[in-house]
Amino acid sequence: MSTASLRTADDLTTYRHQVDEAAQFISARADAVPSTALILGTGLGGLADRMAVTHTLPYDEIPHFPVSTVDAHAGRLLIGTLDETPVVAMQGRMHAYEDYGPWQLGFPVRVLGTLGIDTLLISNAAGGLNPHFSASDIMLITDHINFLGLNPLTGPNHDGWGPRFPDMSEPYDPALRRCLQDVALEHGIKLQQGVYMAALGPSLETKAEYRFMRQMGADAVGMSTVPEVLVARHMGIRVAALSVITDECFPDALEPVHIDDVLAAADAAKPQLTRLVTDALARIAA
Ligand code: HPA
Repeated sequence: MSTASLRTADDLTTYRHQVDEAAQFISARADAVPSTALILGTGLGGLADRMAVTHTLPYDEIPHFPVSTVDAHAGRLLIGTLDETPVVAMQGRMHAYEDYGPWQLGFPVRVLGTLGIDTLLISNAAGGLNPHFSASDIMLITDHINFLGLNPLTGPNHDGWGPRFPDMSEPYDPALRRCLQDVALEHGIKLQQGVYMAALGPSLETKAEYRFMRQMGADAVGMSTVPEVLVARHMGIRVAALSVITDECFPDALEPVHIDDVLAAADAAKPQLTRLVTDALARIAA
């Protein structure tokens, strides 16, 4: 069976066993698995520098765990504390453009959900479509548009995880969003807000596509996050997500983008992003 796409009840049973095996592997190594998880996106893995790490589990050692193929992603699970707050952090993630099937994309969050996390804070690098945004701004995601052409919840549903038709009227938890806004205000951190559109990639978009996306109602575009959010919401995990705007995708003034520029812009946002996430986590956990 390939977990790329699951069609039958047997496929689902196999997949559930794989999720359970991965979860058991992790819980056997960690003293306790924190209730809050963090996913660190492209160029944002450095956020983990502030963590006091007690356990490092490379993805390729965790049974069945998909392994990220992107250079900028470290590909390991870190368990420890961020300024006293216990967290489990995914340093590196999988993307649909790496040719993972929908269920593989959902695998890490299924494992974290099985381990009992109740809160997921996601970060990503995204291109800014809203003309009020500049490179290195941080955007609080208020809502999303799934333009990936796939959904990790397709195939047979496991009712024990969540409903067949999970509600998406408010995927990004209002209380968590307010908490992040409060922290930003208190520290004088500029926090933009907006709608994130997930595109398949790996090519960046054309001017015509950026124009289309903006007209569809998106403020930023990236190649991740939405599959993780869908799985988390399916399992009843509350979610907040932040995009670092790494390049300006304005169709009438578009400049060529190089991955080095994307990583440099992500790096420039690191101090503010770190403060925001660290303080918000402390309040969420309190
Ligand atoms: N599209 C355009 N620019 C970007 C993206 C994207 O998906 N991610 C980061 N910068």
